[in-house]
Amino acid sequence: MDKVTIHTLKRLKQAGQKIAMVTAYDATFARILDEAGADVLLVGDSLGMVVQGNESTLPVTMDQMVYHARAVTRGTSRAHVVGDLPFLSYQASVPEAVRNAGRLVAEGGVGSVKLEGGEEFAETVAAIVRASIPVMGHLGLTPQSVHKMGGYVVQGRDEEQARKIFRDAQALQRAGCYALVLEGVPLELARDITESLQIPTIGIGAGVHCDGQVLVCYDLFGLNPDFKPKFVKRFADGYGLLRGAAETFFADTRSGAFPDLEHSFQSKTLRVLPGGASGPSSGSATQGEEKIGPVYGVPV
Ligand code: KIV
Repeated sequence: MDKVTIHTLKRLKQAGQKIAMVTAYDATFARILDEAGADVLLVGDSLGMVVQGNESTLPVTMDQMVYHARAVTRGTSRAHVVGDLPFLSYQASVPEAVRNAGRLVAEGGVGSVKLEGGEEFAETVAAIVRASIPVMGHLGLTPQSVHKMGGYVVQGRDEEQARKIFRDAQALQRAGCYALVLEGVPLELARDITESLQIPTIGIGAGVHCDGQVLVCYDLFGLNPDFKPKFVKRFADGYGLLRGAAETFFADTRSGAFPDLEHSFQSKTLRVLPGGASGPSSGSATQGEEKIGPVYGVPV
């Protein structure tokens, strides 16, 4: 099982093989997605919305990104992990951008960083790359610019905007980006950009011609029944599955069906109350020294 690197992604594009990328925010989801075969796990600042419940990604801080990046890298064996640079962590100055990118690598353990924006960030990208930190670009619908865009709206529909995004893509490649996310753009624009670049494009709401696809993991798992934009396909009814399991647990708790002997520890000799209070003591549970095993899902 070879670890995926930025060089693997370049080779996949050259071989005409698609790149599968998905977001992850913690070690448990990272492990599921990694073992399912993700090429790239993105610790996206979308965590500000799906994990924290904010209306945008803007409140996410560097410390929060480092915390989640650390958790994801602990749960990942094979995939390449990318960490998002959050709002205001790279826009104010180039040295600050380099330092914050470095924090995601040194403290968060990621293999590269992602930032939103075009030509105007070429110098920033080049400086981070000079510090030996690979950079993934992000063009089109860039959520950190929600106020400038006037909402989460498809970008590059008119020719002038499309030409600007096309130029931005070329500038980011020249500045040293190893890949580009194209979000919320017409598939024809994504196709032309993808054909014109040596570096891979990863689409989200950008059609089938990109070199790969990315989705927010909560969306692909169908965890939010109220969120159904056109570009999201739900690959499971995660909300229904998890809610059903929780309802069964609550019902079994209330009825006393849980925990049964199989899920209880027993001692044949232990009596604490004088005279001996009697609970269920016969059954199949192990006697004597019982190893408690995994605690809170983490193997010990
Ligand atoms: O933050 C994020 O999850 C992203 C993806 C949607 C590309 O940037």
